Amino acid sequence: MSSYLITGIAGFIGSALARELLQRGEKVRGIDNLATGKRENIAEILSHIDFREKDILDLDAMKQACSGVDYVLHQAAIPSVPKSVLDPIGSNRANVDGTVNVLVAARDAKVKRVIYAASSSAYGDTPTLPKDERMTPDPISPYAVAKLAGERYMISFYRCYGLETVALRYFNIFGPRQDPSSPYSGVLAKFITLMLKSQQPTIFGDGEQSRDFTYVDNAVEANLLACKAPAAEAVGKVFNVATGRRVTLNETFKLLQQITSYSGVPIYGQERAGDIKHSLADISLAEKHLAYKPKVNFEEGLRQTVDWYQKSGMD
Ligand code: UD1
Repeated sequence: MSSYLITGIAGFIGSALARELLQRGEKVRGIDNLATGKRENIAEILSHIDFREKDILDLDAMKQACSGVDYVLHQAAIPSVPKSVLDPIGSNRANVDGTVNVLVAARDAKVKRVIYAASSSAYGDTPTLPKDERMTPDPISPYAVAKLAGERYMISFYRCYGLETVALRYFNIFGPRQDPSSPYSGVLAKFITLMLKSQQPTIFGDGEQSRDFTYVDNAVEANLLACKAPAAEAVGKVFNVATGRRVTLNETFKLLQQITSYSGVPIYGQERAGDIKHSLADISLAEKHLAYKPKVNFEEGLRQTVDWYQKSGMD
């Protein structure tokens, strides 16, 4: 049995990681300041985990949280492009200062490995598709800059202190428990919950922007593989975590119409500042070094997500 610390455990990705680790019989500790995470995401597993309501900016709390831990899965963040455009200082504090704290605490506690939730937004709006890890990053939003800085800190802590780190560049992760309620929520959580209520979603721009939407189980799998991959394959490196397929928002809307039986049309609004047009990953590096393979495709992920919102009454 190994011991894991999940930062951001009350978020939808953090809580999915926790549930999978518990299923596998592992020991789980988690911290979350509940700024964007929700207590109800961990309610059913609370008695099986060591949960601490703390902020990653609290270095003492982080040091205590890292004590005796084998692996740190660093998911805590303010994960929003538009929010960072409005509040770059807040984004930097949570996403950069917070990440450095996690690393210092993990280094001092001598944890085996830190896995970091990096972001495909680091690539920026490059016309070259698919995006692979050798491309020069060109982040646009403060959020993307902060997430890229976090990646570089991961690599720096490996080079300077020998702390094993792996950065996973997530491409639009979605799935059950993703919060649909904030104006900064991920597009799929918003669209699904609106359409289930027969309310009209708004597409920002012409809807021809595309994303490599990735079901959360794939991200969970990538994290667990990254913990156990041989150091020579994985450590000090950056990997795309995605499906290697992209869909436009217009196509996604049509698919959701079928799944939710929503018969209306979308509203088309203004394009969003800081947005990128297309996003598609080359996942061959993760396939080669982490033995990663996307387990759940987009359509199946959408169906499972709609199903969850329907059953949970969050629609
Ligand atoms: C997302 C993630 C971010 C991650 C990045 C790269 C969220 C909230 N953000 O950013 O953490 O690092 O992918 O993987 O998951 N849109 C609409 N209508 C809406 C909301 C959004 O048309 O009501 C559009 C946006 O303008 C954008 C697309 O949908 O073109 C996706 O937006 P969003 O879900 O916020 O994700 P990203 O900005 O791609």
